[in-house]
Amino acid sequence: MYIKELALRNFRNYESISVDFSPGINFIAGPNAAGKTNILEAVSVISNLRSFRNVPDSEIIKWGDNTYFCSLVLGDSACEKFEIGCSFQFDKIQKKAKIDGLIKKRISDYYGKFLTVIFSPEDLSITSGPPDIRRKYFDAVISKVDIEYLENLNDFKRILAARNKLLRDIREKKKNRSADLEIWDNMFAQRASIILKKRIEFILMFNESFKASGARISENEDSPYIEYDSTFSSNNNNGIIDELLKRRDKDIFLASTGLGPHRDDYVIFYKDRKVFKNSASQGQKRTAAVSLKIAECEFLEREAKQRPVILIDDIFGELDEKRRNKMMDIINDRNQVIITAVNQDSIQIEDYSCVQRFYVLPGGIVERL
Ligand SMILES: Nc1ncnc2c1ncn2[C@@H]1O[C@H](COP(=O)(O)OP(=O)(O)O)[C@@H](O)[C@H]1O
Ligand SMILES: [Mg+2]
Repeated sequence: MYIKELALRNFRNYESISVDFSPGINFIAGPNAAGKTNILEAVSVISNLRSFRNVPDSEIIKWGDNTYFCSLVLGDSACEKFEIGCSFQFDKIQKKAKIDGLIKKRISDYYGKFLTVIFSPEDLSITSGPPDIRRKYFDAVISKVDIEYLENLNDFKRILAARNKLLRDIREKKKNRSADLEIWDNMFAQRASIILKKRIEFILMFNESFKASGARISENEDSPYIEYDSTFSSNNNNGIIDELLKRRDKDIFLASTGLGPHRDDYVIFYKDRKVFKNSASQGQKRTAAVSLKIAECEFLEREAKQRPVILIDDIFGELDEKRRNKMMDIINDRNQVIITAVNQDSIQIEDYSCVQRFYVLPGGIVERL
């Protein structure tokens, strides 16, 4: 799939623009703070319903306004037109998503239909940050191709919140409501079991691409791999219920559920089981972040049988030339790519076909070069 045209209204510093993209490589240059990343952010909002910068929609609306709108038209895809409209009034965000003119009320009817993979400097936090960033990231990746996973996860979150509330009630009102807790434990275990099995199955597959792309980029330096680290020792229903029961008193005391998919981690190791986060150099961390995203591209392509649009935000300055070229080799021109950089000459793209260059001027003016 590829973006033919992107249109923004009151999105960050853009009042109203429309950009026609090439199905090949699109290179957006321009000075700092001109609005290059904002363009990629808009594409990510349309793809994922939220910004890759992890900010609320209220920050995205152009200052002084209370609505934003972004839309795009795809080529080579079952669905053509994607639209997101968002308004912020009386401290409340309202967001609407449409595909081909039809409003999609459920996230699962929208999510995963327009696929993108973003490479950004913040990717370092996925490989080296706290576990919740990794959980969020992998949940998002799996959900793109597995709606059942997404729906289970949403159910699980609701059940977890209800269970925690009940734990608090039991603790505070000193009521004995163990019969109620049993009901929630059963529901919790059923969803947790599905989530765990899917995550473990996913990571086995994902690891192959992750290790292979790591080896390709760093030319067989010791490349890391990922292991799922579950807080439960079992991933079947009854095993989970038993473990919840054993921990029940502690959960009540803390009024929170201490075990489960919401506490698990994806740990990255080197071959000798050194923990990546603690022992990798800055360069190795960058390589691993890039390998992760290449693995995501391969995973999405394999599972969805569609090539995602690749968004690359200003990361070339952080990779040495060898790794930069390797990365471009791997991505090459099979996918549509949109790259931003301050410097127009930061990468060699002359050899590729279908190259379109843009220049963004401060004030949100996008020129085709
Ligand atoms: N909500 C907003 N409304 C208007 N302008 C914004 C908003 N958020 C950010 N900006 C402006 O967007 C610009 C930064 O855009 P960005 O795409 O991050 O720049 P870069 O070209 O360096 O990637 C800054 O000039 C900033 O003031
Ligand atoms: Mg930027």
